[in-house]
Parts: sequence; structure tokens; C-alpha cells
Amino acid sequence: MSGTTNTTNTTNTTGTTGTTTATAGHRPLRDLISVEDLDVEQVTAILDTAERLAEIAARPIKKVPTLRGRTVCNLFMEDSTRTRISFDIAAKRLSADVINFSAKGSSVSKGESLKDTALTLKALGVDAVVVRSASSGAPIQLKRYLDVPILNAGDGWHQHPTQALLDLYTMRRHLGRLEGLKVGICGDILHSRVARSEVQALKLMGAEVVLVAPPTLLPPKVESWGVEVAHDVDAFLPDLDVLYLLRVQRERMHRAFVPSMREYARVWGIGSDRLARLKPEAIVMHPGPMNRGIEITGDVADSDRAVITEQVANGTAVRMACLYLLLAGGTDAEVGA
Ligand code: NCD
Repeated sequence: MSGTTNTTNTTNTTGTTGTTTATAGHRPLRDLISVEDLDVEQVTAILDTAERLAEIAARPIKKVPTLRGRTVCNLFMEDSTRTRISFDIAAKRLSADVINFSAKGSSVSKGESLKDTALTLKALGVDAVVVRSASSGAPIQLKRYLDVPILNAGDGWHQHPTQALLDLYTMRRHLGRLEGLKVGICGDILHSRVARSEVQALKLMGAEVVLVAPPTLLPPKVESWGVEVAHDVDAFLPDLDVLYLLRVQRERMHRAFVPSMREYARVWGIGSDRLARLKPEAIVMHPGPMNRGIEITGDVADSDRAVITEQVANGTAVRMACLYLLLAGGTDAEVGA
């Protein structure tokens, strides 16, 4: 704990300016590479800051000058829809200059390509880099060459910290708390960086996590994750506050992990019959992209229990909060002028 107080000026929905100290006292954020690097105060500061920034999206002019004159590079070396667009909008709403750099298809070997890219970005004077890569550890590698905040937008099977944070934000908004919530994660946990970040973030904030998946889609040494593992989907549903579904990541499967997609849908997929087993107030989440008809049916995805599009909308506010705290945190930069 630095013991410092970050006082930020905000403008509320009525347009009047006030001062809040919701982020007071947390250790300053330097990078956002892994949930493991965060403590409870930092996660709370990100969620509280996102809460304040969310109202900017409701304004006719969705822009504040907070990061004017700062340059954020979105370095996406793997496919992305939501995360990429959301980081782009987040930086633009804070008035940063944004460079969207797509390195996919480069024939240079991965290590060299990353080093050369980093040195180029350094020479160009970027102030922060958002990186997505198919290689676990790419954000840590980048940090070796670049002394600016690095935000991990998903690296291999390793981490996806902003997805976990936007999910916590969505759970907190719907259910009013994180501590004591029972969250069931169902699906392809083996290949999922979301699951790794999600479990760490939920445990950190005092939620209880239960995993359910075909044995072949559970990671080896899952016991070391320190969470319960269930084996029967129907039996695990009634206790949950949140059902978090994961996509079957066929592009990462180089052998048959499940007999067939039809079989997976029958045994592990969530349709309206299974939805009825959840508590009435429980919500259904999915990070997207969804495989409708496999892990989730269309009716469940479109039902009023699913908060999947809200997750996307909340992603912008949470990413704005991360950029704000990394680039302007610790100063008196205005959030909502
Ligand atoms: C996830 C990802 O890329 O890890 N999607 C996302 O960022 N919203 C999950 C996935 O690809 O299934």
C-alpha cells in the first residue's frame, strides 16, 4: 500500500462536478498482465472507477479529455471481436490517440517479431500497449523491451485479466456483491485463459467457484486451482448464483477431446430445461464468442436470465477504468470533465 490518496474529479449525470476518492489507498497499477498480480484493493478500485466512468456511455457526446495527448497501441496478434473493439472504444472515449496494429500473418519468428515490434513501438513513443497473442507469456516478453504499461488482452491459454474484471463488474451490478457468491463455470476449461483469470479473480474477491466439464476438458492438476470440481451438470445448477459458460475451443483442439459436438451439446450444453434448474435470481454469463446450439442454446442465450450483451457493454467501462488507472492514476487527471 502506498498510502496515497488518488483524488479524481468526476462529473455526475447531471453534469455537475464532484470529487470522489473511491480509489483511495490502493497500490498503484503499473501493468495489467495477470490477475495474480492484483490485490483486493486494486480490483475494487478498478470496479469502482468503472462504475463512475460507465455514465460517459450514456451521454450524447461520449468523450472526456482525460487521456488527451497519450497514445495507446492495440497490438492484436490473434483474432478478436469484443475485446479489440472494446479497448479501442475505451481509449477513444478517454481521448487517447489509438494505433490499431494487427500483426497476424507475419512470417517472422514469434520471439523476434515481438521484439522488433516492441522496439518500433518504443521508437514511436507509445504510452501504453494492449496486447493479444496466441503465445502465453507474450505480454511479459513485451515488458522486457518497453517501459510503458502493458495490458494483457488475452495470451494463449494463460490469462485474460480484463475479461475477468468485466465479469466481476457485471456480477457485482446484478447481484450486489462478490463475496460469498457461488459461481459455476461449465465448458472447455482446459483451453480457457478466461477460466484461469476468472477463478483467480473470484477467489481473490471471496466468491466460491465450482467447475464442471468433461474430464478431457479439465486442466491437468486442476486440484491445484483450489476450487471444487463437480461431475454432474444437473446436480450442480440449483446452488449457483452465476452460471458461467465457456465455448468449446475447437481451434485449440488437435485431437478428439469430445466424441462429437452433438454429444457435447446433449451432455454438457445448457438449454431451457436446464435453465429451469437454476435459482430464479441466478444469471447466465458467457465471454463470447458463443457456439449457439453447443454449450448454450439460442433460447438461453436470448433469455432474460442471460447478461451476455451487458458483459460486452460493461467491458468498455472496465477497460476505460484500467487505462485511466494505468495512465492517469495517481494524478489528479479529470475523469469526467
Ligand atoms: C475469449 C478469449 O478470447 O479468450 N473471448 C473473449 O475475449 N471475449 C473466450 C473465447 O475465445 O472463447
